[in-house]
Amino acid sequence: MKPLTRRHLLVLGAAGAGATAAGAAGLWLTTGPGAQPLYTQELDLTEPHVLTSRDRVLEVQLVAAPAQVQIGRREASVQAYNDSLPGPTLRVGPGDTIRISLHNGLLAPTNLHVHGLHVSPQGNSDNRFVSVAPGETFDYEFTLPADHPPGTYWYHPHHHGHAADQVAGGLYGAIVVEDTEPISITRERLMVISDLSLDADGNLARADRMQQVMGREGQIVLVNGQIRPQLRAAAGERERWRIINACPSRYLRLSLSGQQVRLLSRDNGRLPEPEGVTEVVLAPGNRVELLVETREANSTLAAAPVDRGSMSPMMGGAIGGGTQSGGGPLELCSLTVSPSMSTDLRPVTNGRPLRDLRKEPLAAARTLTLGAGTDAEMGMGSGQGSMMSFTINGRTFDPQRVDETTAVGTVEEWALVNSSSMDHPLHLHVWPMQVIHDGDREVTEPRWQDVVNVPARGRVTIRVAFDDFPGRTVFHCHILDHEDQGMMATVQAI
Ligand code: C2O
Ligand code: CU
Ligand code: CU
Repeated sequence: MKPLTRRHLLVLGAAGAGATAAGAAGLWLTTGPGAQPLYTQELDLTEPHVLTSRDRVLEVQLVAAPAQVQIGRREASVQAYNDSLPGPTLRVGPGDTIRISLHNGLLAPTNLHVHGLHVSPQGNSDNRFVSVAPGETFDYEFTLPADHPPGTYWYHPHHHGHAADQVAGGLYGAIVVEDTEPISITRERLMVISDLSLDADGNLARADRMQQVMGREGQIVLVNGQIRPQLRAAAGERERWRIINACPSRYLRLSLSGQQVRLLSRDNGRLPEPEGVTEVVLAPGNRVELLVETREANSTLAAAPVDRGSMSPMMGGAIGGGTQSGGGPLELCSLTVSPSMSTDLRPVTNGRPLRDLRKEPLAAARTLTLGAGTDAEMGMGSGQGSMMSFTINGRTFDPQRVDETTAVGTVEEWALVNSSSMDHPLHLHVWPMQVIHDGDREVTEPRWQDVVNVPARGRVTIRVAFDDFPGRTVFHCHILDHEDQGMMATVQAI
């Protein structure tokens, strides 16, 4: 696959008349109430450049810097890794080592996080406390255990105070950990879904205070940097789609009309058996792998709006309507399926049975309360009641503090309680989470995720096995604006 370079994107710019609008907000492209700008001539989906490990090692140079790309019909000034949006796809196998030399060509500090990988949080591995100043270079090295679950992961900046701006600006890329036994398919596709907002000059629009409080949703939703690209297939194919929600705040309720879709994998690897689905919901940071068995039909991959709550009336009602992504479904890609071709597909082999932490002894239980509200609402002082706080157990993030201490080799149960009126997708680094209770519902099958949505005023119980990797890392809301405003805490495994 060719990299999505500027030249590539210029070709995209030749696409027919798009629905451009310089609206009241001065935005030159708008999704309006739920509709993506339409292009009369659709372009085929392209995929980021793929870098594959050799002899169990992948060496990569990543430059995070301002970049000029073509988005739809317009030239845009974004931020990107290696001038490409998304950045290159890193393809490795379990047991491999990834070395990334990260150069910061931005004006703000940055760093790199390998979301979902089960690797050490220390030193120059997945260490969230690293800060790479503008002009500096930092050499990361991530070593995957030999039994690392195959699946779809991703990388993105994680510098406190800059994470939402940098991810919204275009800094993200996919990581694929290959299967140990291949699955019988006719084609694999990778789709990195992201969103961004641009001003009239094609520069990244700043998120205002209200958007930061709610969690910004970009006005343009992209698939691999493209607006509404086209996919083509023949009937009778079996495709594997690896989908990443790289939006800083937007939830995606995805459906693909007219096709048979099965869920193969969620966040941290295969389900024991693929599950028939009509829709999947991805909170920011979540990934799914879908098996799409094609029928002759024209279909659309659509993202329906998700109600993720709103701020309380004490905010003055400035954010109305509950959900930000209001309106109808967005069309992300179209799929055109031509008459059948003969394929030689074997049945999909089963995944390994999933570990069930309910069968293992518990060493500790904790309650983590996610809070968002004015100081007055949260009982934090009596000022004007207008300062918003985003907290975990009543405190905003402090990188110097150790909030929770766990013992390596033990299993814990965490009750995630949301005391606010909006959803928060909680993400824990390094160790995946098994969802035990989702509200009042007991989740009977072992369900593993690394981002778990905690609904407004809701409660979710998870278990975590701190099997290995001592060190200190973080858990946080993956609405990156909330993380930047303090909804993040540290956990130290010793
Ligand atoms: Cu995808 Cu801590 O982040
Ligand atoms: Cu992460
Ligand atoms: Cu949040």
